[in-house]
Amino acid sequence: MAFDTTLIRQQFPLLHQRIDEHPIVYLDSAATAQMPQAVLDAMEKFETSSRSNVHRGMHQLADQATEQYEAARQTVQGFLHAAHAHEIVFTKNATEAVNLVARSWGPANIAEGNLIILPLFEHHSNIVPWQQLAGYAGCAIAWLGIDQEGNIDMEQYRALLGLGAARLVAVSGQSNVLGTQPPLKEMIELAHEADVPVLVDASQLVSHQIVDVQELDCDFLVLSGHKLYGPTGIGALYAKQDILKQMQPFLGGGSMIHDVDQEGFTPAEIPQRFEAGTPPITQAIGLAAAIQWLGEYAWEDLQKHESHLLTTAHNALSTIDGLQILGPQDPTTRSGCISFTIEGVHPHDLTDLLGQRGFCLRAGHHCCQPLHDFFEIPATTRLSVGVFNTEEEITTCADQIKEIAHSLIH
Ligand code: ALA
Repeated sequence: MAFDTTLIRQQFPLLHQRIDEHPIVYLDSAATAQMPQAVLDAMEKFETSSRSNVHRGMHQLADQATEQYEAARQTVQGFLHAAHAHEIVFTKNATEAVNLVARSWGPANIAEGNLIILPLFEHHSNIVPWQQLAGYAGCAIAWLGIDQEGNIDMEQYRALLGLGAARLVAVSGQSNVLGTQPPLKEMIELAHEADVPVLVDASQLVSHQIVDVQELDCDFLVLSGHKLYGPTGIGALYAKQDILKQMQPFLGGGSMIHDVDQEGFTPAEIPQRFEAGTPPITQAIGLAAAIQWLGEYAWEDLQKHESHLLTTAHNALSTIDGLQILGPQDPTTRSGCISFTIEGVHPHDLTDLLGQRGFCLRAGHHCCQPLHDFFEIPATTRLSVGVFNTEEEITTCADQIKEIAHSLIH
């Protein structure tokens, strides 16, 4: 379908609301993207015509629900180019997917003296589960350095892998603060040469570029639905089937067992063994609808549009006195977002005042405290873009930032 921002915007009901009397300028898709009508319709259709439980019913509605839920799994499989639908586990979000790997795969594969390699720009959801694992497995985190532009120190990476103690590399496909994309393919190849598996946190990546898990050859990959124009409450873990088959369930309960007796239980096959209890059925259907909706547009059109927005933002923000952009100084090398500070202006004050005028951005450490420590700053303001944003929104927002910063300083 032609990439026409006017037509795309029309499909997002929330964007036509107002905050007080102000039009909404939504520049916070890196936190949660908005949902198009097609996704809302798909979820409403399920709720009003097929709502039932999955995998256990014996009536028509239950069959329909199961079919739609499993079709959603196949949609995620296709989206990630995974070899098998059973390599996709539905979770609550990307965070739960990382925790699943840390809790289930971790203790069986990582022990005292081992290392988990994490780049400094990781999100807390790809740090804390490993710190927890380190706490009870006795392994250590090996922090992988970056430069001021957010590029990974590949020499240190090779050296860390060369120690022979690494058992996992966990890396974001795209930084939620810097917008940088590490050289995933190269990192995975190097890790595999050292026999080290790699988990990719693709939460920020999947809405901006095609991801092919077979081509990447990553061992695990996690994503969240709500950053992909889908609902909250749904995420997914991809893991290679040989790895997944060896993993024990993380959560126990109904649906994840083959059978149970007074002595114990035998787990179900993959992926059901990791989906205890009633899963987020409506949300999985919503996620599939979001993937199908996004699939109507060409990735290259989307990337061209978003790159233009980020370049516009970079150029406009660069004219503001005292404004410092974090990470890449060449806007064409970033994707998704741009984070900045302004000398003499607290990011929270600026972002709060922007919010009062209808401009929705995010301020804080964005769940990346080690990264902010590296830059020796407590917080930044982050502007992030999605398919529905326009050049005018970016320039108007930059004008507002300039005006507010001026009023806060003087
Ligand atoms: N991870 C989300 C963000 O970066 C919440 O804002």
